[in-house]
Amino acid sequence: MSDYNEYYKTVKRHILTSTLGSNAQKRHHIHRDIMIDSITKQFRTLVEAHPSEAVNFRKVFQSELFGLSLKQAIGKDIESIYVEELGTVLSRDEIFKILVIDPMEGAIEVDWRDFFPYLKWIPNRSFEKRLQQMYSRREAVMKALIKEHMKRIAFGEEINCYLDYLVSEANTLTEQQMLMLIWEAIIESSDTTAVVTEWAMYELSRNPEKQNRLYQEIQNICGFDKITEDKLCKLPYLSAVFHETLRKHSPVPIVPLRYAHEDAQLGGYHIPAGSEIAINIYGCNMDKKIWDCPEEWNPERFLDGKNDSMDLHKTMAFGGGKRVCAGALQAMSQEIDEGGKEVLMRLLVDQTDLLSLIFQSTSQSSQICTTAFIDLHADDLEIASLVNKVKDSTHFSAF
Ligand code: HEM
Repeated sequence: MSDYNEYYKTVKRHILTSTLGSNAQKRHHIHRDIMIDSITKQFRTLVEAHPSEAVNFRKVFQSELFGLSLKQAIGKDIESIYVEELGTVLSRDEIFKILVIDPMEGAIEVDWRDFFPYLKWIPNRSFEKRLQQMYSRREAVMKALIKEHMKRIAFGEEINCYLDYLVSEANTLTEQQMLMLIWEAIIESSDTTAVVTEWAMYELSRNPEKQNRLYQEIQNICGFDKITEDKLCKLPYLSAVFHETLRKHSPVPIVPLRYAHEDAQLGGYHIPAGSEIAINIYGCNMDKKIWDCPEEWNPERFLDGKNDSMDLHKTMAFGGGKRVCAGALQAMSQEIDEGGKEVLMRLLVDQTDLLSLIFQSTSQSSQICTTAFIDLHADDLEIASLVNKVKDSTHFSAF
């Protein structure tokens, strides 16, 4: 049911081969190592300079993850750039706002007409103007970044990044398609991981005994050495902290809309062609029928053989099926064990769709999907929009 055609298949293959698949992630290892070193140094400096002051984690995480996303996407972190179409030089913070913050805010803006499709003819000018401004600023900045990068290629600088790959391997893409693909890689890796990390730190600080358990595990495995990616598979409690944080605080609480191209029956519900369906992952992950005391942040629920590798993905935090998150490997890094990797790779290449996936086989998953639809129907004004609206889906859009 999700949009999935030859174009989509090809671009997913491009991003996995060049940037986010297992081999590509090994090639980009160096960028992550540099990022981790830099984060550690910054925290140390902050603590040493102001021992009694709170440390602003968000600022450091956001800035470093943005740098990582730029290196992977266009081969270089940047301090500023001249944007011809805006006639001005933008600082790194301004670029971050235009490429990441504004579109995120735009994504949660609600056009009230979606809930009353028969009133679609009424103009909503302020909404449209805001989105239009956001689009054109984003486009101007992306064009400037790509132009700058092309200059570096012309000077013979050897760079290994997503844009290089697209320029050499995907020369049938239009400028607009290229721009959207590069921008998506930037926004998706800049925000999600920072949000999860921030919530994990918040929960650990509220639960000192869990913080202590994690600290002990790290001490036992790494001693006073750095935690490196190859050691992550030996840190099950850290993995449980990560998955429990995804469950309770998923950075993508509602999976991107699925579009019904034809009439369908799902879980006893009739879905008319032309509908858009939103799945409320947050609602599923807070369902008392599926999770014990879901409001509690309790990493232990993922430990002691209570769940197998597949269950780690029961949270559906990375979506599923053909449109499953392409960056899940990077987000989890090498943290998952081989079993988990296999599950993830299956999800990444699976030909099924998230909706069919959650409606399939096990009683657990049918419970999950029923919840999704109950939410969908009971609360459709607030959470899920099942709207008879044909959305412009000419470009590949993840969020
Ligand atoms: C904890 C971190 C992350 C979470 C929870 C997350 C979650 C998601 C979700 C729920 C989707 C939609 C899946 C669906 O529709 O079924 C998605 C799509 C996507 N994500 Fe992530 N993501 C994370 C990190 C990343 C990172 C680091 C990248 C790297 C660039 C990334 C790249 C993508 C891409 C390219 C898609 C679009 C896939 C498609 O439409 O086929 N994500 N993500």
